[in-house]
Amino acid sequence: MNDDLYFAGGGEVQLFEWAYAQHMPVMLTGPTGCGKTRFVEHMGHLLGRQVITISCHDDLTSADLVGRFMVTGGDVVWTDGPLTTAVRTGAICYLDEVVEARHDSLAILHSLTDHRRTLYLDRANDTVTAPDTFMLVSSYNPAYRSSLKDLKPSFRQRFVTVPMRYLPAEREVDVVVAESGVERAVAERLVRCAVTIRDADDVFHFEPPSTRVLVAAARLVVAGAGEMEAAQACILAPLSSDGAIHDGLHEIAAAHLSGAAPR
Ligand SMILES: Nc1ncnc2c1ncn2[C@@H]1O[C@H](COP(=O)(O)OP(=O)(O)OP(=O)(O)O)[C@@H](O)[C@H]1O
Ligand SMILES: [Mg+2]
Repeated sequence: MNDDLYFAGGGEVQLFEWAYAQHMPVMLTGPTGCGKTRFVEHMGHLLGRQVITISCHDDLTSADLVGRFMVTGGDVVWTDGPLTTAVRTGAICYLDEVVEARHDSLAILHSLTDHRRTLYLDRANDTVTAPDTFMLVSSYNPAYRSSLKDLKPSFRQRFVTVPMRYLPAEREVDVVVAESGVERAVAERLVRCAVTIRDADDVFHFEPPSTRVLVAAARLVVAGAGEMEAAQACILAPLSSDGAIHDGLHEIAAAHLSGAAPR
């Protein structure tokens, strides 16, 4: 399996390249498992840049991003955080689920995401100006948005937004085959099943099954599982624990997959 093999869904590669050429930061939006992380890895490979990923969460401080003084062997030494390392080395810094970070932790990014392209390390009394090859990429899933946790417009408007969604069915089948090595006919059935559930999204009100879970189900099939067993474990079970909804989902899967026991 090739970790940066990426099947494009539209013009996202070109858009990313334009932003990179103009030293502009990029914001990827899209549902879970639609290929955001894979896309960044792919672009890093294509542009010959290392990708440094930071998973954002509530407790992430600006010191976690830029670095801090640490005591090593009796000396107090400044140690760069991952953001500072990315700026110094001209890497792609990927802030995953950036909406999870507190606004005050993200304030440090302002001078880096405008014409200054500079990181101010107050505590170290240092400033680091980004080389042309440095790029900041953030991602977030709009489905998780709540009024408590949202990105400020002043933050969002600093980025070139690249919207991502699940691939068209034929393309998604290509991904499932490439990632799992499953027979194409099986991948086609799994994707059709997912598309039907996604189309019924209005009825079910949950985050739809992702490309990730289709790849996972296909891998179980390759290992010897039946299609229904694999779908149950990887596609249906993570979606909902509500009994009635689960029966509905089970019916949809049984209509598409082989090996379904008559109910
Ligand atoms: N366009 C694609 N090309 C190749 N593989 C893909 C693509 N989209 C999804 N995949 C497959 O789905 C898996 C999940 O994709 P990825 O981790 O990039 O999703 P994500 O959008 O970053 O999800 P999350 O929001 O949960 O972090 C990948 O490991 C890969 O197997
Ligand atoms: Mg990801």
